[in-house]
Amino acid sequence: GAPVTVDVGKIEPGQRVIVAWRGKPVWFVRRTPEMLASLPKVAADLRDPESKEPQQPEYARNEARSIKPELLVMVGSCTHLGCSPTFRPDHPAPEIDANWQGGFYCPCHGSKFDLAGRVYKSVPAPLNLLVPPHRYKDDHTVVVG
Ligand code: FES
Repeated sequence: GAPVTVDVGKIEPGQRVIVAWRGKPVWFVRRTPEMLASLPKVAADLRDPESKEPQQPEYARNEARSIKPELLVMVGSCTHLGCSPTFRPDHPAPEIDANWQGGFYCPCHGSKFDLAGRVYKSVPAPLNLLVPPHRYKDDHTVVVG
């Protein structure tokens, strides 16, 4: 499939935008400082907090899982059986998790991911949400693929 060029300059803080790439939904989330501050608070609840899984691009192998901390770029398909997780930046949300700090929740079988797409322990999804290959063409333009 062809690469997709996305103008990310107009994505508001806290907003998610969805773009199709190779038939997959790619999510762009502009994280606020508060959202980024939530990441260390859930590290103990996660399976792979540093995202060391080999299927991640090298620039996703860190806590924020992104090239620029504020902009998360991720494939929006659950790593269990491919359902679409819901965007749940609100917190607290005790119906999802006692320590919920915002993230993504898969309604199919209850998998939970934080605001970097890092999977919680004890859910069916085995891996963090995937980060697609991408790069910045300039400050506000991202090329996926
Ligand atoms: Fe998401 Fe099963 S497909 S939890």
